[in-house]
Amino acid sequence: MSGPTKPTGFALITGASNGIGLELSHLMAQRGHDLLLVARSADRLATLAGGLQQEHGVTVRHLALDLAVPGAASTLHSYCQKEGLPVSILVNNAGYGDYKLVAKADARVLADMLQLNVVALTELSCLFAHDFKRQGYGRIGNIGSTSAFQPCPGFASYGASKGYVMQFTEALHAELRGSGVSATVINPGFTDTGFNARADMVGHSMTKGAAEAKDVAQAVYHAMMAGEMNRVVGFVNKLWAQSTLFAASRHLLVRVAQWRLRDRSAPKASSAAW
Ligand SMILES: NC(=O)c1ccc[n+]([C@@H]2O[C@H](COP(=O)([O-])OP(=O)(O)OC[C@H]3O[C@@H](n4cnc5c(N)ncnc54)[C@H](OP(=O)(O)O)[C@@H]3O)[C@@H](O)[C@H]2O)c1
Repeated sequence: MSGPTKPTGFALITGASNGIGLELSHLMAQRGHDLLLVARSADRLATLAGGLQQEHGVTVRHLALDLAVPGAASTLHSYCQKEGLPVSILVNNAGYGDYKLVAKADARVLADMLQLNVVALTELSCLFAHDFKRQGYGRIGNIGSTSAFQPCPGFASYGASKGYVMQFTEALHAELRGSGVSATVINPGFTDTGFNARADMVGHSMTKGAAEAKDVAQAVYHAMMAGEMNRVVGFVNKLWAQSTLFAASRHLLVRVAQWRLRDRSAPKASSAAW
């Protein structure tokens, strides 16, 4: 009797060196997928790739690349072509947030964040959608966030970037229907990863009770492989996402979001601006 068939093609995972991407890399290697891992930290990727190859007997390639640099998406796509890597799954997971009032934020950080969360994700989705359509199979998994469902005071630009990811991916899903290729947006809520440190949210009241990256990675994998359009991760997050559809007014929605995003563990004076 033969065992389960090995998945064909490589799964390209961006942001594989940490958090959700790291857990997804472990999960997909365990499931027999060959992998191309991308992030900026070359050492972390090399160690991870070596470990996964040894443990699961899959082929794991890695590429250190800053996806926030304009043109990085085409560099990555050309790399796959030059190396002859038959990619059949793309996970646009690399991303970050910056928890600050817009009037106190660094405009360069916001631009860099949009380049990564929005521009690189769009370019990679486009470049690989062409290839996937030609080959008649492919899976695109774009990591959104529950912040996509409403304006997010304190996280204005990040929330809007994830709103873009959600709308873009849902539209792409519809465009690809019937082609053998699917695009899925997966929206986690707060998750215990490096995200919180980079967003300057360590100790923030919203991060208490954050999900485990392992559980989020499971949801990402299953939703993407099943070709779902939109998956919100976690029961409470699903309720919240649904409730935003029924808000009596946009004013009410943004005020409730502002109240939710305020750090209740911070001294009153410093949280007053929110
Ligand atoms: N954690 C949460 O609460 C949460 C909630 C909802 C959605 N999300 C989303 O989940 C995704 C994964 O985040 P995470 O929570 O796993 O955060 P994380 O632990 O900080 O991991 C982010 C990954 O992205 C990579 N990365 C960051 N900037 C990059 C760049 N310029 N070029 C290439 N790679 C880059 C990082 O590696 P290097 O530093 O080595 O580049 C790392 O591998 C993000 O899209 C995030 O917005 C997170």
